[in-house]
Amino acid sequence: MKILVVGGGGREHAVIKKLKENPKAEKIYALPGNGGIAADAECVNIAATDIDGIVKFAYENKIDYAVVTPDDPLVLGCVDALEGHGIPCFGPRKNAAIIEGSKVFSKNLMKKYGIPTAKYEVFSDMEAALAYLDTAPIPTVIKADGLALGKGVIIAETREEAKAAVVSMMRDKKFGKSGDNIVIEEFLEGPEVSVLSFTDGKTVVPMISSMDHKRAGDNDTGLNTGGMGTVAPNPYYTPAVAERCMKEIFLPTVAAMNAEGRTFKGCLYFGLMITKDGPKVIEYNCRFGDPETQVVLPLLESDLLDIMLAVTEERLAEVPVKFSDKNACCVIAASAGYPQNYEKNKLLTIDAGVLPHVYVAGAVKKDGALYTNGGRVLGVTAVEATLPEAVCSAYAMMEKVEFENKYCRSDIGARAMKGKQ
Ligand code: AMP
Ligand code: GLY
Repeated sequence: MKILVVGGGGREHAVIKKLKENPKAEKIYALPGNGGIAADAECVNIAATDIDGIVKFAYENKIDYAVVTPDDPLVLGCVDALEGHGIPCFGPRKNAAIIEGSKVFSKNLMKKYGIPTAKYEVFSDMEAALAYLDTAPIPTVIKADGLALGKGVIIAETREEAKAAVVSMMRDKKFGKSGDNIVIEEFLEGPEVSVLSFTDGKTVVPMISSMDHKRAGDNDTGLNTGGMGTVAPNPYYTPAVAERCMKEIFLPTVAAMNAEGRTFKGCLYFGLMITKDGPKVIEYNCRFGDPETQVVLPLLESDLLDIMLAVTEERLAEVPVKFSDKNACCVIAASAGYPQNYEKNKLLTIDAGVLPHVYVAGAVKKDGALYTNGGRVLGVTAVEATLPEAVCSAYAMMEKVEFENKYCRSDIGARAMKGKQ
């Protein structure tokens, strides 16, 4: 089979390494991939958002199967376009990807179908939003409706901060059209859990749970990032919580999308908060999480390509989806300055022994050597019997990765280990 993977981050590297385990995957292309992914797939310089370019490449190269992983192409309708040319895909169509593409859509869906989430109001008028904030409970959460590179969520501790966020989104257009509509919602408290799931619209199979570390600094301080590390499983996701999530959130969401005529097929990501009133949805993503994928897939014992094909062909119930009972920890190395202005073009060296555990996110290859080219440069994942061992081993492997001004959080997994006590 000739397989095409759309995207070029650490998540795509993890997907590609897993797909390669199946001998049916004779050839894998990554569009655009990156300098590190080039060791595992043929990278073609077509942007993940260039839908016409992707379709043309897939058609001309007789691609048998496409895996579309990032949010932008999914929301833009990449799957619809490829299917229109007879190429089967893993990933939701545009009308289902809206579950991530519009927070107004997803909040209204949850309200309509009684799926637990934070209470909220939607605003398209700035003055009305500002007036609402005069009496809204504080802290409060302001969310831009559309995609905003994971930065469209502001937790405001004061009314002034909340109002400033509204003005920056609605008047100053900080996130462009994504801020034309906003959601103002109740601030929830509790541990966060990420649950990625496979669904073909009929069956939903949750993957092993995980925990992201979104803030740039230790002890969850500093700016929000794309994710500085992950662990799996997440100790706060107990069997009792999992059972409630299945009954109150996962099955109702899949049914709701069907009822709306927007059947979701692909990886549906549930961002959950375990509040004192039970699990609630913080956000849906229409795709694998990054860097959650870098801990979830290394624990997957079943074959990823077979599962993906079963999702596409709507026979997910027939295939095994089994996870190891070990623990995984992924530590991300970022360029100094990330998530603001960061340095690029630093020589990157990775010890050959740790290479199988490395997922490259931001690097280019020049004259046979790798150079940094992104905020998040790479992640290293360790799988061990226990979480403390996985954490220790991931940090030990990270010592074998070098580039100037490499930055890692030093406490990935600490909160999870506390949760285990
Ligand atoms: P998102 O970009 O939607 O993943 O949101 C970023 C982060 O903001 C989440 O991971 C949560 O930590 C936090 N967040 C979002 N919504 C809420 C909420 N209603 N209450 C508390 N924290 C939230
Ligand atoms: N790690 C969070 C996300 O992929 O959105």
